[in-house]
Amino acid sequence: MKLICVSNEEEMSLEASRLIAALVRIKPDAVLGLATGSTPLGTYEELVRMHGEENLDFSRVRTVNLDEYIGLDGNHPQSYRAFMNGYLFDRVNISPANTFVPNGMAEDLERECLEYDQLLEQLNFTDLQLLGIGSNGHIAFNEPDDYFTAHCHCVDLTHETIEANRRFFAEGEDVPTRAITMGMRGIMSSRRLLLLASGKKKAEAVAAACFGPVSPRVPGSIIQLHHEVTVIADLDALSKTGLFEEAD
Ligand code: F6R
Repeated sequence: MKLICVSNEEEMSLEASRLIAALVRIKPDAVLGLATGSTPLGTYEELVRMHGEENLDFSRVRTVNLDEYIGLDGNHPQSYRAFMNGYLFDRVNISPANTFVPNGMAEDLERECLEYDQLLEQLNFTDLQLLGIGSNGHIAFNEPDDYFTAHCHCVDLTHETIEANRRFFAEGEDVPTRAITMGMRGIMSSRRLLLLASGKKKAEAVAAACFGPVSPRVPGSIIQLHHEVTVIADLDALSKTGLFEEAD
């Protein structure tokens, strides 16, 4: 595991966008595994800037997102499809047909999961998978459990995750309680994992995921088994790792 320690969220985003941009320049038809949530916002902002000012070309890039809420249409402002369109896809020269997000409104959700896994296989998985981490250690929406789930699946979100997601919704609006998520096979089959974390709220999850035992109780800990993983985290997110304790 390569750990890049940065001083704040802004630096995290700059480092992450540089890595992603380098991949896109080296491999213009790269398959990027993308995440939503607050964590990658600065990274997407910087990629949009690079597209506008430095000719970063997305015309041949394909993207596969980690997850989507069940019951939200892609036009719903809080859907992950709308998130990706708004923060990245509509602002760069990517072809909409090359962007994939699970369909949370699919009539047959089991089939949707199966087809999402098939899509990943057809794309030969991702060249890079961007990951955030939940404060309970989840990656994508693989919530703490007794076992790791390999395949794309429907999941009941934990109370903690629902509450964490509430900040994106209007007051009184129902927060979705279920999601479709890429499973661990899809994530771990990526050629490179890039996990980002910033802020004290992530400190326990980061310490457990990066340095604790590999366990489905901390789903993010599975990244320790990947051969090419980069973690970019700020000092607050690394504050429980024991890496920066002052010597006596
Ligand atoms: C989102 C995703 C989630 C988030 C995690 C952290 O696509 O896969 O695992 O990365 O919930 O969310 P934020 O970044 O909002 O703290």
